[in-house]
Amino acid sequence: LSSQPDPAKLAAARAAVALVEDGMKLGLGTGSTASVMVRELAARAAADGLKLRCAATSQATAELAESLGLNVEPLDQIGWLDLTIDGADEVDPDLHLIKGGGGAHLREKIVAAASDRMVVIADPGKVVDRLGAFPLPVEVLQFGFETTRTLIRRALQAQDLGGHDVMQRLKGSDPWVTDEGNVILDLHLEAIPDAVALARALSAIPGVVEHGLFLGMCDLAIIGKSDGTVVELD
Ligand code: A5P
Repeated sequence: LSSQPDPAKLAAARAAVALVEDGMKLGLGTGSTASVMVRELAARAAADGLKLRCAATSQATAELAESLGLNVEPLDQIGWLDLTIDGADEVDPDLHLIKGGGGAHLREKIVAAASDRMVVIADPGKVVDRLGAFPLPVEVLQFGFETTRTLIRRALQAQDLGGHDVMQRLKGSDPWVTDEGNVILDLHLEAIPDAVALARALSAIPGVVEHGLFLGMCDLAIIGKSDGTVVELD
């Protein structure tokens, strides 16, 4: 028996899938909300006979989409995408995001950057006044991992964010390893006063592959509610 999807996630997913048109090239996000969307998309594509080309933001999403009959291809085989639909961990009033709770933000950011439009789908719990309560994921190379962590701590200090935990993400007692073979540091910051400055500082550190701040990338956020309605933020 498959469990029923969360009604808020389902409402957001359905509203986003309604934006999909025949012939579109799509980016498919990662996470529980994106999974609901992939199921809805596959159902609609089958029902309406839509011809779609999809790039997945993770191995997990690729496998799910393929298992449902969607046409998944490597991003570079498709080229530019019309629309990416993805979840988020936090959405602020400027549509700045924290992503990467599922550890997929590197591929998610590449796919979003390759898209004309990025639509985020979320439940109301993801909407925040200011980013940062959700620990900020940073994908780092395994080489020089502790050096990179030290440089991140110094960057945080320089932004008056010193003293916060910079924790390696684990899977059981082993390091969490991403689809790209890197590891993840979660920055427990509580609040991020200047996301643009923090993003710039993190990107300047050599061992940082990608951080989970998505600034100026999201064009529309669809917030689903448990009564089945949605609110759009743009
Ligand atoms: C994956 O790395 C993330 O960016 C997800 O999109 C994000 O964590 C949202 O996931 P849920 O929909 O499961 O909350």
